[in-house]
Amino acid sequence: MKINFANLALPQAGAAVAFVLDGNKLTASAAALDKATKGAVKRAIKASRFKGKKGQTVSLLAPSGSKLDRILLIGLGKAKDITDMALQRAGGAAYAGIANTGLTALSVLADGIDGAKLKPADIAANIAFGANLRAYRFDKYRTTEKADAKPSLKTFKVLSKETAAAKRSYSSLAKVADGVYLTRDLVSEPPNVIYPESLAKRAKELTKLGVKVQVLGEMQMKRLGMGALLGVGQGSVRESQMVVMEWNGLPKSAKEKPVAFVGKGVTFDTGGISLKPGAGMDDMKWDMGGSGVVIGLMKALAGRKAKANVVGVVGLVENMPDGNAQRPGDIVTSMSGQTIEILNTDAEGRLVLADALHYTIDRFDPKFVVNLATLTGAIIVALGTEHAGLFSNSDQLSERLSKAGEQVEEKVWRLPLGDAYDKMIKSNVADMQNIGGRNAGSITAAQFLKRFVGKTPWAHLDIAGVTWSKADAPTVPKGGTAFGVRLLDRLVTNHYEKG
Ligand code: BES
Ligand code: MN
Ligand code: ZN
Repeated sequence: MKINFANLALPQAGAAVAFVLDGNKLTASAAALDKATKGAVKRAIKASRFKGKKGQTVSLLAPSGSKLDRILLIGLGKAKDITDMALQRAGGAAYAGIANTGLTALSVLADGIDGAKLKPADIAANIAFGANLRAYRFDKYRTTEKADAKPSLKTFKVLSKETAAAKRSYSSLAKVADGVYLTRDLVSEPPNVIYPESLAKRAKELTKLGVKVQVLGEMQMKRLGMGALLGVGQGSVRESQMVVMEWNGLPKSAKEKPVAFVGKGVTFDTGGISLKPGAGMDDMKWDMGGSGVVIGLMKALAGRKAKANVVGVVGLVENMPDGNAQRPGDIVTSMSGQTIEILNTDAEGRLVLADALHYTIDRFDPKFVVNLATLTGAIIVALGTEHAGLFSNSDQLSERLSKAGEQVEEKVWRLPLGDAYDKMIKSNVADMQNIGGRNAGSITAAQFLKRFVGKTPWAHLDIAGVTWSKADAPTVPKGGTAFGVRLLDRLVTNHYEKG
C-alpha cells in the first residue's frame, strides 16, 4: 500500500475518513462532508450509538449528493487528550475500516484540531504511521489466494494543511515502521527458511544502511570459549551463529560508549532431548523473536540515522534432539569461565544469552545492555499478553524502559530479583544449573542471566507473551507483533540521542 500526503480538500471519489470529537463535535472536514451530503453525516451519527468517543466508528455507504463511495467517521474523544498513540490507532482504524471493502483509494481528512497538543503536521504523520503499522501482511506463501480475499486498498492519502511538514515528520516514523516490518517478517518466516545462517544473512543486509555487521561462526565462537551457546546448537545440522551489528550515529571524536541490545535467536526450539510436547510446537518458530527485535531495531535506528552509538548482538541457534545433542546432566563452560550444569535442555535461551551478554559487555563496555528473549512460558502465566516481564539491576534503566513502554503502548512490568531466587539455581556439581524448579520460573531464568552481566546496568525483557498475537489490534495485526522495536527506539530517542 502506498501512503502519501496531499493538501486538505474534500475528496471527490473513493473513500473519505473524517474525525469527530467527544460529544459529536465535528471537525471542519466532517462538517464539510455533512454539508456536501446534505446532512447525511449527522443523520448517520443520530441513527447510531456513535458519540465521537475514542475508538468509535460509523460508516456511510454511497451517500447521496456526493460522488464518494464511503465515508468513515472515527471518534477521537476529547481534543485535549489526543496523543500521538491515539492518532496512530485512528490511522490503523482508518486502514482497517476500508482495506477490505473493495475500494482502492482512501483519503483521510487530517484537520488540525483546536485544543489538541499536537501540531497538524504531527497529527497527519501519526495517522499515516498507524495505518502503515496496521497494513502489514505476511502473505508470500499464499499462492492461490483469490483477489477478493486480499485487501483492495492501494492508496492511503493523508490530507493536511501542512503537507511538507507532515512528510518531514512522517519520514523518520516510516523508518521505524520499516524496522517493525523486518522484525515481523523474520518471526513469521517458517523455521525451514529462517535458521541461524539464513537469519545472519538477513542481518547482513543492514550493511546497506551503514550498519557494520560481523558474523561469527562455530569455529570463532569455539575459540572464544562460548560453550554455553554452542552446546545448545550441537544437536542441529545447522551451524550456530552470532551476529554483531554496530550503528555509529555519533562522530568518532565524541568518544561515546555505545548502548547495547542483545537478542535470543533460537530459530526453532524443540526443547532438545528434553523434548517439548507436539501440540503447538510450531509456535517455537518465533523463539528467535528477541533477535528479530534487535535486527529490526538496528534497521529502524540506522534508517532514521539516529544520533547514537548502538550495538546489537544476536545469538542464533537451533535447539534440536539428535545423536550429538546436549544431554541433561552435561556440564558446559561459558565464555565467562563459569560452568553450568544442564538439567533441562529446554531451558536453552538463557544459555545462548549467557555467552551473548558476556561477549557484548566484554567487547564493547556499553553504557547499558538490554536483552530481549522469549525466555519462559511462566511469564505468560504471570503477565499474559499485556506486559512484557522486566528484570533489571538498575532502577534508572527500569524507569526509563517503563516510561518508554507506556509512551508507545508496549508495556513492561518489573518483577523482583534477589539472593533467595539466585540460590534456587545453585548446582551440586557446577557453578550453577540451568533450571530453578517449578516456582518463580521467570525470575530464576532472569537470575541466571544476571550472573553474566557483572556491574553493567542491565535489563532483561521476557517477551514470550507479547511476541505473537492471536487477534488484530489497531496498529498490530495478528501474528508477529515486533513488540520491542518501538519501545527501544523510543528509549534511545528519549535519553541517548545527541542534538
Ligand atoms: N522458548 C521457551 C519459552 C516459551 C514458551 C516461549 C512459550 C514462548 C512461548 C523456552 O526456551 C523454554 O522452553 N522455557 C522453559 C523453561 C523450563 C524448562 C525451565 C519453559 O518455559 O517451560
Ligand atoms: Mn526451550
Ligand atoms: Zn526457547
